[in-house]
Amino acid sequence: MSRPQRRSILARLEEAQEEERRRIAADLHDDSIQVITAADLRLAALDRMLEDPALKREVAEIHQTLQLAVDRLRKLLFELLPPAFDREGLSTALETYVAHREPAIEFSVKDELEGEPPEEIRRTLFRMGQEAINNALKHAGATRLDVVLSPQDGGTSLLVADDGRGFDVEGLGRPAPGHIGLPTMLERASLGGGWCHIDSTPGGGTTVQVWLPASPVASGEQPR
Ligand SMILES: Nc1ncnc2c1ncn2[C@@H]1O[C@H](COP(=O)(O)OP(=O)(O)OP(=O)(O)O)[C@@H](O)[C@H]1O
Ligand SMILES: [Mg+2]
Repeated sequence: MSRPQRRSILARLEEAQEEERRRIAADLHDDSIQVITAADLRLAALDRMLEDPALKREVAEIHQTLQLAVDRLRKLLFELLPPAFDREGLSTALETYVAHREPAIEFSVKDELEGEPPEEIRRTLFRMGQEAINNALKHAGATRLDVVLSPQDGGTSLLVADDGRGFDVEGLGRPAPGHIGLPTMLERASLGGGWCHIDSTPGGGTTVQVWLPASPVASGEQPR
């Protein structure tokens, strides 16, 4: 498959995914969250009618469970909705993501880019950065996270490094069923005409570096 064809497939894939995410986010917001909130309001009304302290305690616990459900759905909304790149730019979007996802972690986002990459590249880099950051927060037990965006070989490089427990990258050839984060990153990078290197040793932290060409129509190529 030629490079322009691969890029065109990637662009359509990303667009379809973003569209799907927006739709799910809208449903979560307009449906699930509203339904739970309505139930919580009825619960508050019920609470006002109750006098028995044991029943009131029970109602308070149900209220807490409903609040927890709404909090989780709001977090999911945040994961699903793409940031406003036009307003924020890629590095701010990644910074906001880390700060929101794990306020306690020590992190830096270094932006050495001279300008913003095109929309399609930004979207792909953001979703890949999101996965690498999520992995560092979920699996690494890291205390520090460093993100660097830099120009490289006429394209854009994104590096995400953590100081956590690391893992054996040999296992990447045999991904566990249902764990698709890293395989998807490798595939996305290759579809985009770039690469993704994962460098990790048990006990020695993990570094994920992604490189994508600067523009989907670089060197006069036009996606078909
Ligand atoms: N930064 C990291 N630090 C330590 N271990 C990691 C890191 N990133 C990945 N891993 C290990 O590699 C495995 C595969 O990662 P991958 O992102 O493919 O799957 P996942 O995060 O488990 O699930 P998914 O991404 O599909 O939600 C993880 O389960 C974890 O054991
Ligand atoms: Mg993952």
